[in-house]
Amino acid sequence: MNDTVHVELGARSYDIQIGPGLIGETGRLLRPYLDRARVAVITDENVAALHLENIINSLEQQEISVSTLILPAGEGTKSWPHFTHSVDWLLEEQIERNDMVIALGGGVIGDLAGFAAAVLRRGVRFVQVPTSLLAQVDSSVGGKTGINSRHGKNLIGAFHQPALVVADTDALRTLPERDFLAGNGEVMKYGLLGDYNFFQWLEEHSLSFLSRDPDTLAIAVRRSCEIKAAIVARDETEQGDRALLNLGHTFCHALEAATGYSERLLHGEGVAIGCALAFEVSARMGLCSQEDPSRLRAYLHNMKMKSQLSDIPSNLPSSERLIQLMHQDKKVRDGQIHFVMARGIGQAFVTPDVDLDIVRQVLDEQLADKS
Ligand code: GLY
Repeated sequence: MNDTVHVELGARSYDIQIGPGLIGETGRLLRPYLDRARVAVITDENVAALHLENIINSLEQQEISVSTLILPAGEGTKSWPHFTHSVDWLLEEQIERNDMVIALGGGVIGDLAGFAAAVLRRGVRFVQVPTSLLAQVDSSVGGKTGINSRHGKNLIGAFHQPALVVADTDALRTLPERDFLAGNGEVMKYGLLGDYNFFQWLEEHSLSFLSRDPDTLAIAVRRSCEIKAAIVARDETEQGDRALLNLGHTFCHALEAATGYSERLLHGEGVAIGCALAFEVSARMGLCSQEDPSRLRAYLHNMKMKSQLSDIPSNLPSSERLIQLMHQDKKVRDGQIHFVMARGIGQAFVTPDVDLDIVRQVLDEQLADKS
């Protein structure tokens, strides 16, 4: 049984199909979208080992011919060399304006293949087939595509909406534990930013979530996508409300930069720690009750997720340096950091009025716990 979440964007509207076994249904789901029976799949070597044969079989059953590009796995792939290689490969494969590119993989592949599709012949259509939890609930939805620069993460890119998203929840059962838990940083973010009941549901279903019960996963992915779809429909290019999706991300981006975008801290882990910091600062500023950050930390602890700076291995820079790194975030306007703060669980808002002394104090306390 699969669910459909619709992203309403006028001529750029699309569906997100969510359910078990959908990679094996990709050919059938995709067939009505194709002008000619020809697709190009971009994936990475880890995902290829698990899912490539399945997707190729499903496409070939529909008599769709498939070319495949397998890239190295890891964040380093989101870079100019792999990007130019991918675009040149799509041209060599004679992928035309009305053909379809399939991004099969996690956030790195989705962002890179989506950006390649955005610039190829000034824009060809593409389908996201996200295989990580983070990609299913966040990066495959909403049309942000791009690569990293030596100046920072995601600094080069384009908004290019997919024609379809196929989220196979069975793929989540093959993820390494650390990646799965990191992806939950983005799932719980949706409850924290705008849906108290969803956060409460996540608390109540922590055991079935941890055991990756198929129904629990399908509900969590669907609710996350519904919340994201509604926000993207209101604000496709992040002129306003979409910034709410950055809850925890100002802290996260500084911590990712401080740890060199390495295995020391996965993006979703940084989001979880960042959300806990955002709630702690909100409570100290008198915006929400102290119970809210305590409740969030208890949830993260129950889920065996990272919740504070001491959970990041080895040294971190000073609070001053972390705040400096926050100033390099994309969300800085006129030199002012725009934080996402909260008036309570499910009640986030964006503000430039954050007391940096409180931010420094919270960071210093957690840095002291580390040493
Ligand atoms: N990941 C945040 C956004 O899509 O806007």
